[in-house]
Amino acid sequence: MDYDWSSLEELRSTYLDGTAGKADYWSGETLLAGYDVTFARRIAWKWHFVFQDLARLGWTPPPECPVLDWGCGTGVAVREFLKAWPEAGGAGVRLFDRSPKAMRFASGAVSREFPDVNVSLGVPTEDGFILLLSHVLTELSDPAVAELQKLAERASAVLWVEPGTSAASHRLVQAREKLRATFYPVAPCTHCEGCGLLAPGHEQDWCHFFATPPSEVYTDGEWVRFGREMGIDLRSLPLSYLVLDRRAPASATSLPDGTVRVVGRHRLYKGHAQLDACDASGVHERRFTKRTDPAFFRAMNKHRTGTLQQWTLDGNEVTSLKEL
Ligand SMILES: C[S@@+](CC[C@H](N)C(=O)[O-])C[C@H]1O[C@@H](n2cnc3c(N)ncnc32)[C@H](O)[C@@H]1O
Repeated sequence: MDYDWSSLEELRSTYLDGTAGKADYWSGETLLAGYDVTFARRIAWKWHFVFQDLARLGWTPPPECPVLDWGCGTGVAVREFLKAWPEAGGAGVRLFDRSPKAMRFASGAVSREFPDVNVSLGVPTEDGFILLLSHVLTELSDPAVAELQKLAERASAVLWVEPGTSAASHRLVQAREKLRATFYPVAPCTHCEGCGLLAPGHEQDWCHFFATPPSEVYTDGEWVRFGREMGIDLRSLPLSYLVLDRRAPASATSLPDGTVRVVGRHRLYKGHAQLDACDASGVHERRFTKRTDPAFFRAMNKHRTGTLQQWTLDGNEVTSLKEL
């Protein structure tokens, strides 16, 4: 594909300098098409990470709810959602964005990929939809986020993915605290208590994870050029996410004792690792020694361990662990 590199670069600069929220930047079809096969693909890989986690937890979309992709851009979130759960398209898809050009593009893309799905534009008047939010927080003012929370309160389930930056994560945590009165947190939280990162001492920490890009980003010339032109390290896909549901999660009864969510990157030292783990008691730094489980330590070294784990502890020392 022929990219319009300069408009993609301009877009990236507005994302980086925080000015993207000021006005509709979707200048036309070329920019949207370029975004869709580049930035949006990277966002799709983050959604795949979330879907894998949800599948592990046994979560499925609430039935017969339309799916609303709010701040849809090119509609990557809803398209990936429908690929993961095709039956979720049965009650139709709604697309909303401040940009009419983006809504038109997304609508065309959804209809081409899912010709049997009914697509309409705008926010549903009836409550009880599945709300998808993807990379919107960095473009919204505080009052706009408050409005968005009101919209979220009308949903049956909310799936929210943001860049894994400290600022986006903090805003997501604030949203979780508001919405937890209405919803059960499904993921990444393993519990319904207040977020442990709000406790004193965690001011510098944030809830984030790392998705794995497909190997093509290293081998495909177009991706290599995209990374070079945009100055993006394609290996790194940090994300923050939040999944909420009005239904009590199936996992609430089935998550075994000792379940933790490992947050952020573990820190590897010679012979041991330090990990930040979240559970109902808060977020705590723990130590895991290589000799406890050399195979697991090697897998950690290669970043091949999942974030949902079951531990036993002796004080701060992890004495056994396995992936769930
Ligand atoms: C970074 S893009 C993300 C697009 C898409 N959700 C994705 O993940 O690729 C942010 C989107 O939010 C939209 N947006 C920004 N402010 C908005 C607002 N106040 N109301 C609705 N959409 C907004 C922008 O037009 C843009 O499409």
